Amino acid sequence: MIICANFKTNHTRKSVRAYVDALCNLETDHQIRIYPPSSALFKPKSPKQIKMGAQNFYPVKNGSFTGEIGQEQLDEFEITSVLIGHSERRHILSESDELIANKFNFAKENNWEINFCIGEPKSIRDRGKEAVLNYLETQLKSIDVAYKNLIIAYEPVWAIGTGDTASIEDIKEILDFLREKTFAPLLYGGSVKSENVKEMFELENCDGVLVGTASWDVESFKSIINQA
Ligand code: PGA
Repeated sequence: MIICANFKTNHTRKSVRAYVDALCNLETDHQIRIYPPSSALFKPKSPKQIKMGAQNFYPVKNGSFTGEIGQEQLDEFEITSVLIGHSERRHILSESDELIANKFNFAKENNWEINFCIGEPKSIRDRGKEAVLNYLETQLKSIDVAYKNLIIAYEPVWAIGTGDTASIEDIKEILDFLREKTFAPLLYGGSVKSENVKEMFELENCDGVLVGTASWDVESFKSIINQA
């Protein structure tokens, strides 16, 4: 399984160091990804299945892009895993489809692992299953779904940070649909916690989870990993 922690705008460099130290005691064969704020990136001296990744970057080596970080800043910490297309960047930070596609192509050229997030907002959900599947298909159109270092995270927007998880039947249906489009590992995200993760791990086409809120506390994240 691939089990990812998205810290969003939480934690500091000091607390991320303590978090990673606490995680290193855990014996696990699963692939663990930690996406801390940019100010807390570093290369963990941990077993190689625990990797740190970037929540955001601008698709340039360096340059005049105030407030952004580029390849040079990620290289400093040997960061080779990136989140792209997260709904908070699409909807709160207004990232366009064009920028998302540029980020994808830049990350692909660098051979980075891309954790690409897709998911429908509530307004699409309310229009029914076909609308949802069409929406997800459109989100995949601008990227190379055969890219070898691709992971796809299905995260319905209305389930993120709300405590409302998609039903297990819905998750199964969407992951089965995505499996027909790509061989990339498929994750589910959206209010995942230790109480609901087991049935997700049991789905045939679920290769892991992307966890926000329930990952911020290391013991809570460990209990999710322990169920994989
Ligand atoms: P959540 O966030 O687990 O708090 O819903 C998931 C995510 O944003 O990736």
